[in-house]
Amino acid sequence: MKIGIIFYSTYGHLYQMAQAALNGLKENGIDGEILRVQETLPDEVLEKMGALEAQKAFNNVKKAEVDDLVNYDGFIFAFPTRFGNMASAFSTFLGATGQLWQSGALIGKPFGLFAGSATQHGGQESTLLTSMVPFIHHGMLFVGLPQSEQALFNSTSVEGGSFYGATTISAGDGSRMPSESELKLASALALRVGKIAEKLSA
Ligand SMILES: Cc1cc2nc3c(=O)[nH]c(=O)nc-3n(C[C@H](O)[C@H](O)[C@H](O)COP(=O)(O)O)c2cc1C
Repeated sequence: MKIGIIFYSTYGHLYQMAQAALNGLKENGIDGEILRVQETLPDEVLEKMGALEAQKAFNNVKKAEVDDLVNYDGFIFAFPTRFGNMASAFSTFLGATGQLWQSGALIGKPFGLFAGSATQHGGQESTLLTSMVPFIHHGMLFVGLPQSEQALFNSTSVEGGSFYGATTISAGDGSRMPSESELKLASALALRVGKIAEKLSA
């Protein structure tokens, strides 16, 4: 029984969320693995975006191959917002999963989503909601965060987190890294997916 944490990140925020997910699983005796979706932007563009330095922190994480997905019993899929939707590198990765769809290889596997945006109202929830669609086409089972997570009710400070998935807010210049509360929700969602996957594969 193993959970795949498949992420794309430009500046490292979603990588930190992925690490929190892995920790949440490991602390509870559930096996997990982080895989990175292939970058699709050329280095010259990444350099102009100021992302090359940040990517050194996760450049050496094992690349996700489409065929690897069959090896996992549940998933966290993590990506930053691009204009209120999933980042295109992740979408490109999903575009190569047609054969898995055809064979039904992912049917019945639970998944949770992580997203990130620069601002609190920059489209985190639209990203989570629209990104469910391809996974539902794969026959997978969506897992959100339940109302028992008290951090979802914070209304006094800027914090990510949604019933539809764990989120983080990076600020326009990327200076805000995932907060304790955001990492905790990331860990809680991964654990929820892990426990459901355990029951489904029992
Ligand atoms: C092309 C582009 C589009 C973006 N669109 C949005 C957006 O619609 N709303 C928003 O709040 N942030 C937007 N962002 C900011 C990213 O979501 C933010 O940099 C990301 O969540 C940081 O996560 P990462 O470090 O894991 O890449 C955009 C960034 C880029 C490069």
